[in-house]
Amino acid sequence: KKAYPAAITIFGARGDLTRRKLIPALYNLFIENHLPALFEIFCVDFQTVDEAAFKNDLLSGVNEFSRNGKAEPSKWAGFAARISYLQGDFTKKETYISLKTKVEDFEKSSKQRGNRMFYFAVAPRFIEVIAEALSTRKLCSNKTHDRIVVEKPFGTDLATARKLNHFLTKRFSEKQVYRIDHYLGKETVQNIMAFRFANFVFEPLWNKNYIDHIQISVAEQVSVGKRGGYYDASGALRDMIQNHLLQLLCIVAMECPGAYKAEAIRDAKTKVLKSIRPFTTQQVFKNVVRAQYTAGEVDDVQRIAYRQEEQVSPESNTETFVALKMLIDNPRWEGVPFFLRTGKSMTRQSSVIVVQFKDSPHKIFKDDIVPNRLIISIQPELEISLLFESKVPGLQMKLVPVEMDFTYQEAYTESLPEAYEALLLDVLHGDATLFMRADQVEAAWKVVMPILDAWKKSPSKQLQFYESGTWGPAAGSNLLKPYAKEWYRLP
Ligand code: BG6
Repeated sequence: KKAYPAAITIFGARGDLTRRKLIPALYNLFIENHLPALFEIFCVDFQTVDEAAFKNDLLSGVNEFSRNGKAEPSKWAGFAARISYLQGDFTKKETYISLKTKVEDFEKSSKQRGNRMFYFAVAPRFIEVIAEALSTRKLCSNKTHDRIVVEKPFGTDLATARKLNHFLTKRFSEKQVYRIDHYLGKETVQNIMAFRFANFVFEPLWNKNYIDHIQISVAEQVSVGKRGGYYDASGALRDMIQNHLLQLLCIVAMECPGAYKAEAIRDAKTKVLKSIRPFTTQQVFKNVVRAQYTAGEVDDVQRIAYRQEEQVSPESNTETFVALKMLIDNPRWEGVPFFLRTGKSMTRQSSVIVVQFKDSPHKIFKDDIVPNRLIISIQPELEISLLFESKVPGLQMKLVPVEMDFTYQEAYTESLPEAYEALLLDVLHGDATLFMRADQVEAAWKVVMPILDAWKKSPSKQLQFYESGTWGPAAGSNLLKPYAKEWYRLP
């Protein structure tokens, strides 16, 4: 699979994503011999920068963010020699003319027309501009070898997502378009498929007969930081629920696909999205909680309120927290609530999926029996544990819940690849399994549209507040009742 030379272009080379994620990921793929022998990385952005200074900045990014720590100088030199910087305005044709020359020169010297990848690490307003230019300049016209990678946000609502899909698929075939949701590249998220479909013990129980409810929670400790400009117009529902949390829900709730193949898997996920019971306005006000953080302490450090953040309106009604309850109308899940929650500036980072099994129907012990619970920890803990009842050693039949744990740390010695490593390599291999198809993105927007519409009608009415450093507003926890006292969290 390593054979094709790769011409990798990154638009938005001076941006945060390139420095924090893309270059560290490509560098790690390089040092672990996953990149083809022949590759070049063309970095395009508006600014005029000295190429050596630009590469030094990328190196400092690798040193700071790579899972492998500091780059080894000789290896970095070998990698950096493949990078070139192209100053260019995304809206000007000259940029694409120079880029085309560079790409073609590389292909000539490789003596083979390899794969071309164009990564859009840019603000949404440039997506169509760049796509149009790539198409008219015929930079990305080979349907088998040329690919574009589009970051989120993919549209800001259903109408804009549809428009963007239409725009892109008029210029490229769907097979050439890789819409990223980086949660799908996370090792622990990919493992959910293996856990469910390569083991037969849980799957027979994985339905309404045995499962009481499911919690999917992505709590973040970070605040919006410097991203206020983007975030204030977006909010947690668009930023996290529409994509990452709904994708987690799909993996947990999907039927077993016919094969481990991109289309089969994406079909199965899309079916889940289409089976989610649509929210009525009334249900939005009852089953969706939106909240915003106020000042508070996180890990003993004082944090400012969301409304005081850079580039955030002091009267902002944007939510930084969402908790909601949804139902899936299909035979497997009829009546089983799925609770989703995400928020920023919370007590600590904790992404977990909890499958809460039902109570046993016949009780022969006096103690209160705690029903079984499966906990899939996505980050920062990487583990799966199963809670079950056990007899306390001693002369009486006394029971306590205990946990059976699988942790990555104990089971494996390898360090785990970053999501972006897995995803970038998949693009080079032409494997779209972990990427969002056009209809999937639209189906996910359809789910959240009634919520966005209801909120638009009364922007401030439903907004609650929670102190930074807490687990969110009480209303978020109340949603769970009578299914659970609290959202599950690791000790
Ligand atoms: C991004 C969101 O998609 O995901 C951010 O825009 C969020 O707001 C981030 O912080 C979370 O990703 P991770 O991998 O750190 O959990």
